[in-house]
Amino acid sequence: MAKVQVFDHPLVQHKLTMIRDENTGVKSFRELVDELAMLMTYEVTRDFPTEEVDITTPVAPAKAKVIAGKKVAIVPILRAGLGMVNGILRLIPAAKVGHIGLYRDPETLLPVEYYCKLPNDIQERDVIIVDPMLATGGSAAAAIGFLKDRGIKSMKLMCLIAAPEGIRVVHQAHEDVDIFTAAIDDHLNEHGYIVPGLGDAGDRLFGTK
Ligand code: URA
Repeated sequence: MAKVQVFDHPLVQHKLTMIRDENTGVKSFRELVDELAMLMTYEVTRDFPTEEVDITTPVAPAKAKVIAGKKVAIVPILRAGLGMVNGILRLIPAAKVGHIGLYRDPETLLPVEYYCKLPNDIQERDVIIVDPMLATGGSAAAAIGFLKDRGIKSMKLMCLIAAPEGIRVVHQAHEDVDIFTAAIDDHLNEHGYIVPGLGDAGDRLFGTK
């Protein structure tokens, strides 16, 4: 059964409050999203296996732990997911990055993939899908489905704010995918915005409106 993990660390909560604030400008917003993604990576990678290696410190030979051959891919959902990539790369610099873009067909209302470029060896990698806002869950569930169709087995979803509706949709479709978030907010409004949320994450990251 998939889990939802909420990061209640004071640093995460503090920075999250700052990005929620409508007075936070684009520069700070970007920096804070970057820092939040980096802090959350710490927990998202907690289950990575380690192995012992032999090293020599300036003082003595020692056995010490390293991460055991994990290969990671980060897949941001365009466009707001892009804002979280660098923060993760700061802790996992060798990770490869794929991109997936989706739009909602105005007639069927179903998500349609308009862009997808993934590392060739992505099936061998642990994939972290990133999107700051898990709102209806439609895009995230579709992105996970498209990635499963390409043979990817190990996936986690990292967001900053989730709506209960989005969590339900993702877990109904993909009960094997764990969700990591900094907050679960109250609800979605009639325009599909998370309440209280932070507004449009893409617009706030890129200074568009
Ligand atoms: N996407 C956003 O950027 N914000 C929301 O509140 C919902 C979806």
